[in-house]
Amino acid sequence: MTRPKTALGPWHKRVLYGSTALVWLSGALWLVDKHFRQVQTDFGLQAPPTQALWLDIHGAAAMLILGLLGSLLPEHVRLGWKRRDQRPSGGLSLAVLVFLALTGWGLYYVGDQGLRAKVSLAHWAAGLGLPAFIALHVRLAGRSRPKTSRPRPLDRLPDKIVK
Ligand code: HEM
Ligand code: HEM
Repeated sequence: MTRPKTALGPWHKRVLYGSTALVWLSGALWLVDKHFRQVQTDFGLQAPPTQALWLDIHGAAAMLILGLLGSLLPEHVRLGWKRRDQRPSGGLSLAVLVFLALTGWGLYYVGDQGLRAKVSLAHWAAGLGLPAFIALHVRLAGRSRPKTSRPRPLDRLPDKIVK
């Protein structure tokens, strides 16, 4: 049984889902620390020490996810684009990832504090939605996949018919 070139191998999928979970969870825990776990000290409100740790993990997971995105472009996205039914959900997942990469870059390099706060909000708001976009895409792909992958009789004909 041959797999379509757009289909992802089990390890590819595991690493993709794992790093998406890690990037999401580390970002979400950072938000929890920042908004709900600040502690009052002599120097005013302070973030718990874990907040820096979440960001360290987040940065590493983000790099992993960008590498994986690169691995999806040559076959999955390029060949998958021909499947019109997967374009909206796949395109949306791709667009959100690119947006996260751009705003993530902004978080490093934007110096103006007012603008940085806006970039931060846009980044994590889109980020919180990322798993939902990917889940929708995977679900739609599963639904539209042919029920059986057994070759049809015509597919079994030899390439050349020797006379
Ligand atoms: C324009 C962008 C994209 C297009 C056109 C596209 C197209 C497709 C197609 C055609 C399938 C069905 C594959 C098959 O059954 O052979 C699929 C499944 C899938 N896509 Fe995409 N995709 C895009 C972006 C993405 C992105 C950005 C991700 C990850 C973040 C992703 C993750 C997946 C996964 C995990 C599956 C399920 C694969 C499987 O079960 O083997 N796709 N996509
Ligand atoms: C492609 C995926 C992603 C990339 C490339 C990315 C990249 C980055 C980068 C570079 C930073 C700055 C780190 C620093 O200041 O040391 C950051 C911060 C952050 N990210 Fe992400 N991220 C991604 C996905 C997500 C997701 C899914 C969430 C979901 C909650 C998220 C939430 C956050 C938060 C809350 C911050 C801290 C914002 C701040 O410092 O004001 N990110 N991200």
